[in-house]
Formats: sequence, C-alpha cells, structure tokens
Amino acid sequence: MCGIIGYVGSRPCRDLVISGLERLEYRGYDSAGLALPNGDGFTAVRAVGNLAKLKAALEDVAGDATSGLGHTRWATHGRVTHDNAHPHFDQGGAVAVVVNGIIENFSSLRRELQAEGVVFSSETDAEVIPHLLARAYEGDIVEAVQKVLPQLDGHYAFVAMHASEPQRLVGARHECPLVVGVGDGETFLASAIPAFLRETRDVMNLESGEIVILEADGVTVLNGQGPIKRTPETVDMDDDAAEKAGFETFMLKEIHEQPQALYDTLGDRLRPDGNVVLDDFGLDDAALARTERVHIVACGTSYHAGLVGRYLLEDWAGIPVHVEVASEYRYRTCLAGPGDLVIGITQSGETADTLAAMRVARERGAHVVALTNIMGSQATRDADGVLYTRAGLEIGVAATKTHTAQIMGLALLAVKLGRLRWALSGAGAADLGDELRRLPELLQQYLDSPHPAAVAEVAQRYANHRFFLYLGRHVGVPVCFEGALKLKEISYIPTEAYAAGEMKHGPIALLEEGSPVVTVATDGHVFDKVVSNIQEVRARGARVVAVATEGNEQIAEHSDDVLWVPRAQPLLSPIIAILPLQLFAYHVAQTLGLNVDQPRNLAKTVTVE
Ligand code: M6R
Repeated sequence: MCGIIGYVGSRPCRDLVISGLERLEYRGYDSAGLALPNGDGFTAVRAVGNLAKLKAALEDVAGDATSGLGHTRWATHGRVTHDNAHPHFDQGGAVAVVVNGIIENFSSLRRELQAEGVVFSSETDAEVIPHLLARAYEGDIVEAVQKVLPQLDGHYAFVAMHASEPQRLVGARHECPLVVGVGDGETFLASAIPAFLRETRDVMNLESGEIVILEADGVTVLNGQGPIKRTPETVDMDDDAAEKAGFETFMLKEIHEQPQALYDTLGDRLRPDGNVVLDDFGLDDAALARTERVHIVACGTSYHAGLVGRYLLEDWAGIPVHVEVASEYRYRTCLAGPGDLVIGITQSGETADTLAAMRVARERGAHVVALTNIMGSQATRDADGVLYTRAGLEIGVAATKTHTAQIMGLALLAVKLGRLRWALSGAGAADLGDELRRLPELLQQYLDSPHPAAVAEVAQRYANHRFFLYLGRHVGVPVCFEGALKLKEISYIPTEAYAAGEMKHGPIALLEEGSPVVTVATDGHVFDKVVSNIQEVRARGARVVAVATEGNEQIAEHSDDVLWVPRAQPLLSPIIAILPLQLFAYHVAQTLGLNVDQPRNLAKTVTVE
C-alpha cells in the first residue's frame, strides 16, 4: 500500500515523478505529494485526493530539478489530510522522506522526539523518520539512515534525501517492496517496476534489510556487512498494460482480457495427452505425488479462487484440502508440516497476511508454493516454488482477470496431482485438458455475444437496491462470494453471500418484498436444489437474478432475470459464471456514477496486515 518513487539523473524530473506515480496509483490514492530540491531546501507540493489534484496543484511549480521523490498514499495512521500526505520533513526542512508501510513503534519514538523539543506537523507514523534522520545527520545521509534503521520496528520501505546532498537518494526496505531501475545516467527507486518501465527495463531487486544509494551514474547496495554486488536484470514486462486501450476503465479492459489471461496461463504447460508440466514448482513429480494434504492461504478474491481450487483438487486429485484466509491462518496453531503442500495465492505477491501465513507454514517444514501474477515479487522469493498466472498487469482495484487465471493455475495443479496420485486416468486427464483448453475460446464467445449488453441492462434496473443476497451451492458458493465482493467493493452496496442450504438458518430473514437475490444456478448435480432455494426466496417476495447455462429454459420460469453463460465442465463453471457477476457489479457501479478503478478506502496491494 502506498506508492513511492525517487529519481536521480540529469533530466528535469517533476513530470517523470508524476508519471511514475500514475503507474503506482493503484497502491493508494487518497492523497499524493512530491518534493524537489531547490538549492535552498525542498519545493514540496501535496494534495488531498487522487493524482489529478496533485497535478493541478503543481501547475505553477518549476519542473527543472533533476532529482526528487514522490508518494501516493493509502492512509494507515492519520486521517486523509493535506498535513498527513507525504513527503514528510524534519523541522528544518532539510530531510525529505516518503514511506510505505507501518512504523509500529512510532508512538514511543514520537514521545522521545517531542521530549527533545521536536514539533510534529502530521498524525502519521511515518513522520518520525525525517526527524530521526535529522537528529542522526552528520553530513552523510547514508550514515544517518544506517544509524536510524535499528530504531525502527515494523514493516516499511522508505526513500530519503537531504537538501545538501540533492544528487543522492537513499532507500531502505524491511519487508515492504522497493525496486531499483537503472537507466543511462539516471536511476529510479520505486515500490514497483511499472513506475519506471517507460524509462528503463533494467531492474535490481532489493532484499529485506538492505539499503540502497542512488546516484545518477550508479547504484550501491549495502547490507549489514557493507557493499554487496548486485547486477541489474532486464525485465520482460508490457508497459501497454498501464493504458486503457480504448476501454472506459481498467476494470472493463481487464474483464475483456480474461480469455488471453487464461490462454497464457495454460501456455505449453498442458500437453496434448493431459500431462501437466509446472516448471519452478520446486518439487519433482515423485515428491509431489507423496503430498498428503494441501493448505491454501490467501485473501479476498485470491481466497475465493482458493475455494474453487478446493473442489478441483479434492475431486480430481482425491487429496484433502484446507482453505483459509491468511489473516486467520497466520495466528492459529499451524499444523502443516513436511509432506504438506501450502499454496499462497496472491496476485500481487505482496499481501502482508498471505506472506506471513506462507512463512509460518514454511517454518513448519511444509513445501510452500506462491501462486502469483508478479514475477520476482516477495511471495516468489519467500516460497520454495512458484506457479505463475500470466494475466498481465492488473490495475483495476477490483481483481478480475487474475481471479480466473488463478483458478486456471489451480486446475492445472489438480490435473497434475490427479495423474500423479492415480486419481485420474490418462483418458480422464486428457478430457479435462480439452475442457481447460476450451475455456479461453468460451470466454471470448461470451464477451463477443449479446450477453454482456444484457447484463448491463439488468444491472441498470437493479442499481438502486440497497442490499443484495447471493446464493449458490457447491462450486457456485465461491462464485457468489466473489460476485458479492465485486459488488460491495465498487458500488458500496451491502451484500451477503451464502451457501443456499444455509439460507433457512438465518439470512432468509433479511428478505422482504422486492429484495434482489442473485443466484448461481448453472447446470450441475445441485441445479435442482438451487431451484428449490429460488422457489423459497420467491415465495417471500424476492426478485431473482439467476446466472444460468445457455439452453436451460427451465430457469427462466423460476427467475425474474437470467444472466446466461455458455456451458462449461461443471467444476470449471466458476471461470465462466463469474463473468456476468463481474459485469453486473461493474454496471451497477457505473450506473451509480462511481469510480470503479479507484473505489473508496481500498488499495490494490495490501502490504500492511
Ligand atoms: O494481491 P492479492 O491477491 O494477495 O490481493 C488479495 C486481496 O487484497 C484482493 O483480492 C482484494 O480482495 C481485491 N480488491 C478484490 O477485488
């Protein structure tokens, strides 16, 4: 959470910093700011709101400084105000700092500094850093950072500059991410690679605990022992992903990118005979075959993908699967151990709770694999193995294409484990392989059909309801959880999602005349049961919107509106059934005039617990 960027070089950098922040805005957008050295301290501009506000505030500011730092904030400590926006400064205005993360012992540090006469100008935890650096400064900002780091507890990354050393930036990271971009006579430091991808593809990753010194013509990395050698690697990433490509929003573009994301995630991993090859998994086939249990840990949408994965792994591989939100898993007694496979699902590879849960399981001796979309992310570095989704950069805060790609990744694993454990025959695996291969085309057909427009029309009619209940059974349950999450996070309408069989145990009391109930009623062995639940809610006056399989005319009799999807293998139906629910949430939010790419209070990457 929060995006930070720094630049040192020879080009005027105000616009470079802003362009970097634009590519980091998905990490937080409640306020933003930058600091540019001006020969007599810093020119600092901060603004509440998204980057458009900062840009407006910058109109009269000279842009000729050749170094600077910027920040886009997701508030943790301190309200969303101008004073709490970064950069923060010491009292003399000589030290400028931008911070991502949390300084957990900030209260005691703040008291200590106040006792020495320091006056704080914000409510943030971050502001202790510039004051500590100013106190430690004896003419060298690097030495000051080295003195201050042992005083800080928490998980953070920061970039600091001293006004009397304006051609030098110092960065430090403890758990939160920080990457270096090495250009020709210029260097960048940022929370994520896209921030500087337009300028350079030569990247250096930093490890937790390291300090980095940036100058125009070079980068020095230090660990506790002194300087260490680090060579930049050239990354193969697509900068176009940061553009909307003619779509109104990133979310809509990313919904439409799902066929490609599935196609790329399959890649050449699935062989014609149904064999699955997972490079980088970190376990050979014999060891994988001996796996006794699978634990899946994740948050939010990734957790919902994990819930779908459980059905696939249990059914196709006959292996027991435990799925849990990472924020709970990390604090329970962990019973994973050698022989267990723990999968941390995190599209960003940075979610603090998921990383912590993976760490706990790894310490217990389990084999830990990161299922992630971001190459080189922290999850990939903390895990024993990696299974990449290849969905391309996802910018919309509401996850869409990474969700379906995660299910595809889990499906591949389920087929592989199924073969290794003899739960699937060769022919069975080949048939499932055909079903998986069909999915990208199926999703494309759906997106090219009249169905999405029909979803928009239904969504516009329902947009003014103040509560939605989502009901489904079996694999339809996680689809409901995910559909309901999409609606609440971008439209702010309260939703409940339940296993339909649980409805009579409480949630049915919420229904009144006209209450909308969204049901996942795709074809499968629980279809008739779902229809019975639909009857029960309609008997109480509810209006039913059903996601159903094309050609199943029976459902039309039982529902007020139907969102049709093409037929898929029943266990894979979540990959297609979620599309109308993503679009439904999207069009409700659009009808209400909300910013779907930047929903309030949220950030794309949750690096604090
Ligand atoms: O990067 P991760 O997959 O670890 O993120 C997990 C959640 O924060 C994320 O899925 C969140 O729930 C999304 N906003 C959902 O749209």
